[in-house]
Amino acid sequence: MAVRPIVRAGDPVLAKVAEPVADPTADDVAILVADMIDSLHAVGGGGLAAPQIGVSRRVVIYFTGPNGVTDWPDDGPIGMTVLVNPEIEPVGDEQWTNWEGCLSMPAMRGRVPRWKRIRLTAVDLDGKRTTRLVAGKQARTVQHEYDHLDGRLYPSRMVETQTLGYLEELVRSGQVPAYTPNKSAAYLKGQDALLARLKRVGRTWAL
Ligand code: NI
Repeated sequence: MAVRPIVRAGDPVLAKVAEPVADPTADDVAILVADMIDSLHAVGGGGLAAPQIGVSRRVVIYFTGPNGVTDWPDDGPIGMTVLVNPEIEPVGDEQWTNWEGCLSMPAMRGRVPRWKRIRLTAVDLDGKRTTRLVAGKQARTVQHEYDHLDGRLYPSRMVETQTLGYLEELVRSGQVPAYTPNKSAAYLKGQDALLARLKRVGRTWAL
C-alpha cells in the first residue's frame, strides 16, 4: 500500500500540461496506477489524475457506482478504469450542469457545465487502445479528470461562478445531498486484467 498525499490547488503541478506516457505497458506506469488506487481509496474519492499525487503524466483512474449514474444511454456503473493518454471529443452539442467537487479543492463544490456525451479514446496498462462512448456522470468524471492533465481545475469551467461554495454550507441549506466517502476497494472487483497487471508489480488488494 502506497498512499501518497493529494496535491491541493495552488501547487504548480496542477497548473501544468502533463507529459504523455511513452510506454503504457512499462512497470513504472503500473506502479503509478497502484499508488493512485491506494491514494484514491484512502480519501474515498471517485476519480484521480496523476498530477494530483504530484506526477505530471497523462494517467487517470476513476469508477462510477450504481447510485452515481443516469438512465441515459452509455451511463452505467463502471469498475475501476485506467486511462493512459486519453483523448476526448464531444458527441453532439448538448451540455448539462451539475455539482462537482475535486480532491485538490477539498470541502468545496460548484456547478459546472460539461458535455453530456463524449467519445473517449485511451490506452490501458496492457497497451490496448480503445474508443468508447460515455455519457452522464461517467462523462462528467472523465472530462473533470482530463482537465487535470491539461492543468485545469473545475472553477475555470464554471459559468454560474456564484455557486462555488463550501460543501458543509451547501448540505446544510439543502442544495446538495450529504457526501459519503467511499473507502472500499469494491470497484476493483471484476477488473481482472487490471488486477493481473498490477499483481505483476507486486500490488494486490483484499476484495
Ligand atoms: Ni479533480
